[in-house]
Amino acid sequence: MTQQPLATIAALPRPDLRTIFESDPGRLERMTLSVGPLRFDWSKTHLTAEMLAAFGELANAQDFAGKRDQLFSGAKINNTEGRAAEHSAERGEGARESVASAKALHERMRALIDVIEAEGFGPVRHILHVGIGGSALGPDLLMDALGRDAGRYDVAIVSNVDGCALEEAVKRFDPQATLLAVASKTFTTTETMLNAASAIEWMTEGGVEDPYGKVIALTASPDKAIEWGVDETRILPFSETVGGRYSLWSSIGFPAAIGLGWDAFESLLEGAAAMDRHFRLAAPHENAPLIAAFVDQYYARVMGCETRGVFAYDERLRLLPSYLQQLEMESNGKCVRADGSAVDGHTAPITWGGVGTDAQHAVFQLLHQGTHIVPVEFLASKEPGHGFDPAHHRVLLTNCFAQGAALMRGRDNPADPARAYPGGRPSSTILLDDVTPEALGALIAFYEHRTFANAVLMGINPFDQFGVELGKEIAKSIETAGTSGFDPSTTALIELAMGNAE
Ligand code: F6P
Repeated sequence: MTQQPLATIAALPRPDLRTIFESDPGRLERMTLSVGPLRFDWSKTHLTAEMLAAFGELANAQDFAGKRDQLFSGAKINNTEGRAAEHSAERGEGARESVASAKALHERMRALIDVIEAEGFGPVRHILHVGIGGSALGPDLLMDALGRDAGRYDVAIVSNVDGCALEEAVKRFDPQATLLAVASKTFTTTETMLNAASAIEWMTEGGVEDPYGKVIALTASPDKAIEWGVDETRILPFSETVGGRYSLWSSIGFPAAIGLGWDAFESLLEGAAAMDRHFRLAAPHENAPLIAAFVDQYYARVMGCETRGVFAYDERLRLLPSYLQQLEMESNGKCVRADGSAVDGHTAPITWGGVGTDAQHAVFQLLHQGTHIVPVEFLASKEPGHGFDPAHHRVLLTNCFAQGAALMRGRDNPADPARAYPGGRPSSTILLDDVTPEALGALIAFYEHRTFANAVLMGINPFDQFGVELGKEIAKSIETAGTSGFDPSTTALIELAMGNAE
């Protein structure tokens, strides 16, 4: 995309958010969309009907409809790696053969879960899932959001290579009653393989006779898993065309499938499939992920906002911001387009956020009075996730809605500038009927498609992540070659600190 369409949008009149509803009375109806259990409200952003129309033209110019067809038809849209991006096939939407193959692999997972539940692995109470990035963030989000009182298994998800993480997780586990799920698309990721090896050691020390017999591999590289020592019957494969950060729908979601129960896992997939159909079929002016991408593009690329804040006013969604950090920043944090040319201006904003109301007492000062304009997204659920006094949920929601209103409206105070609020600060709100598997499936799929739509508008390939490779390579060379060839600062750090890591 050249800067021209953005310059055209930038030249359009920008409304004053503080009075936007007075100057545009039908705004709320026009700028709210409900898709199943999810209601997306972008009426408190600067977007006007004219801007939306201009973004619609930009989407046409970028062949959004064509690219979307390619996504769902299994075309090789991940051009730098020569692969399709078929996460939607995992939930039943995509090329027929890919959907059939994903279904067969889900059935394989279900059959293995049946064996585990029938105590084919002996009594299992604990599931130790090791993986990192997309092989951990999704399962962690699902279990944290939905598994609080599932009570079926005690599930721990360990990602960091810092042994403290594994040590902490296994403290409460009985090695004899633990199943180890090794989750890695490539089955080569250093952190995961080291955690898996240490978990095997912990099981061995705990008297487990055949620890490898208690390993389930969740991977797109079955050969590597076999090489590592996992029996073929305990490998749950998924397709190479499912990207790591889009993989929670595949066997990477094993902890959720077993921990929440199969019905819940299926509802999650169905919720996502409904969002897939919406994204695929809805006209641009009614297409929630596409419009959300227009909002993102407006703030990141037209107004130059460098960050975007996501605040979940629901404890069950507290891991959503870190999940979205990988989804959005690993997908679109790039400086070249799919054709290799440089992108002008900023691409993905820095996604950050937290949980409300906690964040109000920590970072909201900057949102209200700081010099940065941060477009904020609020998330809330109509239903609470607990049985305490309904006052908890009432206070939670009133705070959420008050923040959006305060950011927008502001308050003048010429006599006391320290107590004045500039206002005019944008926010969008996603209101869920409840935090159910279906709603969470729809929500995550909404963000996936929004990320894709952003990429199409910028001409980026959102499905590769070469930016993470250089650091990995250098870490390996420190392992093998020590300090030679490094700058003095890096050399000094290695020499000073690594003696204790031998
Ligand atoms: O380092 C980035 C990354 O490749 C992510 O994209 C991925 O989710 C993560 O590492 C883990 O990779 P794997 O599932 O192959 O272990």
